[in-house]
Amino acid sequence: MTVSIVGTGYVGLTTGALLAAAGNKVYCIDVDSKKIETIKKGRSHFYEPWLDKLISEAIKSKKLIPTTRYRDAIPQSEIAIICVGTPSKGDGSVDLSYIYSAGTSIQKYMIDDLVIVQKSTVPVGTGRRLERILKNGAGNKKFHVVSCPEFLAEGSAVFDTLNMDRVVVGGDSEMAKQKIIRLLKSIDEFSKKIDTKKFTKYSKIYKNKIVFHNETPFKDRILSVGLESAELIKVTANAFLTTKISFANSIARICDQTGADILEVMEGVGRDERIGKSFLYAGLGWGGGCFPKDTAGLIYHADEVGFDFKILKAVVDLNNSQVLYVLRKIHRILGADLEGKKITVLGLSFKPGTSDVRISPSIRLVNNLVRKSATVSVYDPKALQEAKADIDGSVYYAKGIADALKKTDLAILATDWPELVDLDFKKLKRVFKKPNLLDARNKWDKEQVVKLGYKYFGVGR
Ligand code: UDX
Repeated sequence: MTVSIVGTGYVGLTTGALLAAAGNKVYCIDVDSKKIETIKKGRSHFYEPWLDKLISEAIKSKKLIPTTRYRDAIPQSEIAIICVGTPSKGDGSVDLSYIYSAGTSIQKYMIDDLVIVQKSTVPVGTGRRLERILKNGAGNKKFHVVSCPEFLAEGSAVFDTLNMDRVVVGGDSEMAKQKIIRLLKSIDEFSKKIDTKKFTKYSKIYKNKIVFHNETPFKDRILSVGLESAELIKVTANAFLTTKISFANSIARICDQTGADILEVMEGVGRDERIGKSFLYAGLGWGGGCFPKDTAGLIYHADEVGFDFKILKAVVDLNNSQVLYVLRKIHRILGADLEGKKITVLGLSFKPGTSDVRISPSIRLVNNLVRKSATVSVYDPKALQEAKADIDGSVYYAKGIADALKKTDLAILATDWPELVDLDFKKLKRVFKKPNLLDARNKWDKEQVVKLGYKYFGVGR
């Protein structure tokens, strides 16, 4: 098929590169010419594992065509997929202006019967509003709006797209739904020809085990629903996942007071198949470009329709206090006055496998430590540059792990990158001033480090 994708972020570019790999002709449209120039050179403008290779191959094969011009892409396309940003406004509501402007730009050049697929995460009702705007707009061509929410996570975007657990399609037109299903099936077929296992490195981090969904027939993973339901499925899934994490973080606080170990507790709880072990990892809290925005958006939207979403408000409040909770632990370890104390924060991205620092709990922690006059040294395998804009005040940007830990009074695991989890604690001990470890992701081997003479502190263990 020939398709256009509007927006070259994590969702748009990953989907585009894989649709191209699967043999489709894909126009990737972005109004930002710098991003388009980078993609034309065969690279992504952000770090996402394995994506550069896919883009470079797709550019070489001419299956992926980056452009800033709708008029070069839309008239050729049978499907246009909207993957633009939907940022949070100050009051928690979602800024939908990029969706509507993408929609009207598509309308200007579209052919009759175009299927407009809405993949950006949006509040319920956005698809209907888009339909209304386009119906009232210029032009009299027929079109069909389908909501097809995206569930990929950063760091594992390629694997998640190759390994779709579900394909949710919402809308009124059966023909339009079938078209997007057929398009996505091409990725599923492509995934069967390659070894998808090699893309799993960052997929396991918050999951109990990796499930290879493409062993289940594609048709059994399709869920065809109404437009509004599809939109609500996506935000509900994210709200539910944040609830799981905040729930685990709440139980971790009880563990801290009682001597129970959160890892043991969640192992026991998660073995109940009704609950499951994934996303029950207590730590520094959740961040990123999706969870904070989507929970705020759902709370705002629930208020608008007359429902006070108290559970979700509590989930967000707990998360907002999680960094401060960890900060109180730091005071218990190093005392009330942090001035002159050297603290190493390992990991700055909001999660492993990405250089994305949007709403990163780790950076919030760093800024709190700087405000308390601690001497802060930071290290991240990928996000050092990106973090600089968000870190207030002066910190030491270390060149490596040993450099970061030099003469430190306390090392904190803030983001659970595998290379920061698997440290050579035996060798590194001599660079510490005081062998204090605060495992804010509960990933270091407590027993091993204690044996080596470190003082270990976790979150709920
Ligand atoms: C999320 C959803 O998982 C994905 O399905 C959706 O499409 C977009 O939003 P993402 O934001 O990339 O994906 O990251 P995710 O892996 O969900 O992690 C989000 C945050 O929660 C991170 O800060 C992570 O460290 C934290 N987290 C996750 C925990 O603290 N504990 C957990 O058990 C899981």
